[in-house]
Amino acid sequence: MTVSVHGVVVRGKGEPADVTEVLVPDPGPGEALVRIQACGVCHTDLHYKMGGIGDDYPYLLGHEASGVVEAVGDNVTEVAPGDFVILNWRAVCGQCRACKRGRPWYCFATHNAAQKMTLKDGTTLSPALGIGALAELTLVAAGQCTKVNPAIAPATAGLLGCGVMAGLGAAINTGGVSRGDTVAVIGCGGVGNAAVLGARMEGAKTIIAVDVDDRKLRWAREFGATHVINSRNADPVESIKELTGGFGADVVIEAVGRPETYKQAFFARDLAGTVVLVGVPTPDMQLDLPLLEVFGRGGALKSSWYGDCLPSRDFPMLVDLHLDGRLPLEKFVSETIALGDVEAAFTKMERGEVLRSVVVL
Ligand SMILES: NC(=O)c1ccc[n+]([C@@H]2O[C@H](COP(=O)([O-])OP(=O)(O)OC[C@H]3O[C@@H](n4cnc5c(N)ncnc54)[C@H](O)[C@@H]3O)[C@@H](O)[C@H]2O)c1
Ligand SMILES: [Zn+2]
Repeated sequence: MTVSVHGVVVRGKGEPADVTEVLVPDPGPGEALVRIQACGVCHTDLHYKMGGIGDDYPYLLGHEASGVVEAVGDNVTEVAPGDFVILNWRAVCGQCRACKRGRPWYCFATHNAAQKMTLKDGTTLSPALGIGALAELTLVAAGQCTKVNPAIAPATAGLLGCGVMAGLGAAINTGGVSRGDTVAVIGCGGVGNAAVLGARMEGAKTIIAVDVDDRKLRWAREFGATHVINSRNADPVESIKELTGGFGADVVIEAVGRPETYKQAFFARDLAGTVVLVGVPTPDMQLDLPLLEVFGRGGALKSSWYGDCLPSRDFPMLVDLHLDGRLPLEKFVSETIALGDVEAAFTKMERGEVLRSVVVL
């Protein structure tokens, strides 16, 4: 039976994110219906609203969520009604070329369950990252649900579904940060500060946080930054070199998604160091770099999709570390808000007032 719930929808480029009635059908084979308990507002949702991802309006926003499985369709073995789950936008399929080559964190499979949700007049919704979780209920592929220990607060758990996992994984999985490394993180929002925390977990010796906002840098210190640079007041490349004996950092993580900050990352790393781009650029952006420097500096220029995570491996482990008191994920929750407050949360995000606003239902 199709049910009507409230969801946060953007109808056209730059239009406000409004709470609207959304119709959700019963789960079909391989699908799960999830009652959302919490969903973070990520910068990627703002990209959707502003047309930075595509033009498939109306978008149903939200993709960083936790909740309880309400019902499952036929042939679902992964989860059962009552399970507390974190939603993921990469359900490893086991069948595609990446999975078969043993690199499931590059799984190409897309999941279309959430596209069965519509507006009241039947208009198909495009769910953000195939999830659309800024809604009371959402319909996903069962593989997009990862069961975790329900002792974690839903608002904290949901953040592992995107930004916090992307940042932790950019440092741990993609950047391969290891004990004694020097690391710089450019852009310390929810994603960048999670990269700071990931670098600390891995035992980095020097962790340099760069942002244009002192508030973000204060939070970065709490997550483990050993040094902070406000790049409005100081040249970040020179400052990172000074703090690393003149060499540059072993790993530089770009968590803004702009050509100028990518260039800073490129020039602020040590010879044969690694640059990780986890920030998402928009289609109009171009990068101009001297090719000789790309060759001469060696090392690795990598991008990090979802922190190269494997939800079934990483979510339960990170939740358990948090419950053990070893991973302060709750510090990413700056405020809890209602569904109707998402537009205001975008404004706070743009003003730099929050790491994460989290809708709690
Ligand atoms: N790769 C992935 O899988 C993935 C996942 C989630 C989010 N993202 C992307 O990561 C980026 C960050 O997301 P977020 O949610 O942390 O956003 P956010 O808005 O919370 O944080 C961005 C930070 O960058 C800072 N900043 C802006 N301009 C800067 C500059 N010129 N120099 C230094 N710092 C600057 C801001 O002050 C802010 O602290 C976005 O592009 C988002 O789309 C990527
Ligand atoms: Zn996100």
